[in-house]
Amino acid sequence: KLIRGSGFHAPVPGEVECLDDVLIDVDPDGTIHDVLHPHQESYCGRLDEARAKGSLTELPEGVYLLPGFVDLHIHAPQYPQLGNALDVPLEVWLQKYTFPLEARYADTAFARRAYTVLVDDLVASGTTTAVYYGTIHDEANRLLADICIGKGQRALIGKVAMDNPAECPDYYRDASVGAAVEGTIGLIEHIRNHPDNALNRVMPVVTPRFIPSCTDDLLSELGAIAASHDCHVQTHCSESDWEHGYVQARHGVSDTDSLDRFGLLRRGSVLGHANFISAADMERIRARQAAVAHCPLSNAYFAGSVFPLKAALEKGLHVGLGTDIAGGPAGTMLDSARSAVTASRMLETGTDPELGPDQRSGRGGARIDFRTAFHLATAGGGAALGLPVGQFAPGYQFDAVLIDPQAPFGTLRLWPELHRGDEILQKIVHTASRPNIAQVWIGGVTAPRPEH
Ligand code: GUN
Ligand code: FE
Repeated sequence: KLIRGSGFHAPVPGEVECLDDVLIDVDPDGTIHDVLHPHQESYCGRLDEARAKGSLTELPEGVYLLPGFVDLHIHAPQYPQLGNALDVPLEVWLQKYTFPLEARYADTAFARRAYTVLVDDLVASGTTTAVYYGTIHDEANRLLADICIGKGQRALIGKVAMDNPAECPDYYRDASVGAAVEGTIGLIEHIRNHPDNALNRVMPVVTPRFIPSCTDDLLSELGAIAASHDCHVQTHCSESDWEHGYVQARHGVSDTDSLDRFGLLRRGSVLGHANFISAADMERIRARQAAVAHCPLSNAYFAGSVFPLKAALEKGLHVGLGTDIAGGPAGTMLDSARSAVTASRMLETGTDPELGPDQRSGRGGARIDFRTAFHLATAGGGAALGLPVGQFAPGYQFDAVLIDPQAPFGTLRLWPELHRGDEILQKIVHTASRPNIAQVWIGGVTAPRPEH
């Protein structure tokens, strides 16, 4: 299959490549075979050949292909509370709003309804790869996997492990270490043996909720499972001032060090937030090739801090973006990319030496722009997971969104006489909305339009 069109991708932070009138040759399994530019010798031949064979898709003038978005941090069961319950700190929010909501997923009819709407909404918003926390419930977790497989969304799905009676309520807690281990392995096997998941678009992820919610015995077991089953890991790391202090008090070290001791800091481990990590923590995360899911909007509500994104990128850490549904009132990767830019600007604000002591809070050089935010939402997320997604290059999956600036209800307005090259991408990143996403492909296949 040959797709002819224009678009953008950003394999490197801070740099955007404009792809003008390229031919993207996609193998039947969804892998990009080749990307041909008009100046290349074989371009015309391939175009004619595909035309003759009827395998050419020509995108109209004025629409733009982007790599599909990679959301590194989503709490699937929290979608019904998106936009609500943002008035209290993390540790209160969990007990007051979030654990009661997640406990409802014992009801599989509710789970099916909520997860169906979530996956449809995310795919329609361009999230082609999603890294999900489920709940403690085996049946609901399998349902989420089945729904992603059925709808073709690329996803990593974890059974949330939380067995610590001191931090988790009786009504929402793994009954024992054994129960949490069984649920974790059960979901790994369900996903890996699923008859419709031969291409492994859906993968399991070992998911200790965060250190406070797990006993040391469970953390050790989960580290061992990640190694023995060769699995991704996800957890929250040094997210809030409270949580960071809790781990210091319980283990006498940072979250990063503690996770490392339990074998949970591996290639493909995704650490949510990481706001309070030190330079030494960053070094360890880099050395283990683990990654940070930067969740800028959620951090504004729950962290009491801002993730030092620029410093992490300069140190060479893998970083991508997460929405952290529902920590923060927005659930799309375009929202997350914009929040990443805004948060970095706020972190930098206040560096003028003329300012008084109350205003001089900023960190010089902290800002990122839309190019880096776009990279993080696509190629950065893919690299964090070690998956071939997030850019248009040979060997990568054709996961893509098609941006239509003419969409009647969209918020994107282009002025062709004014804007060229990556100025167009800047407009897209900052102002496009769901109606502007005209089509979504995952693994070369067009995702169906949701019915609701
Ligand atoms: N830490 C532990 N659980 C959660 C959660 O559900 N959301 C966020 N943002 N942080 C957490
Ligand atoms: Fe989270």
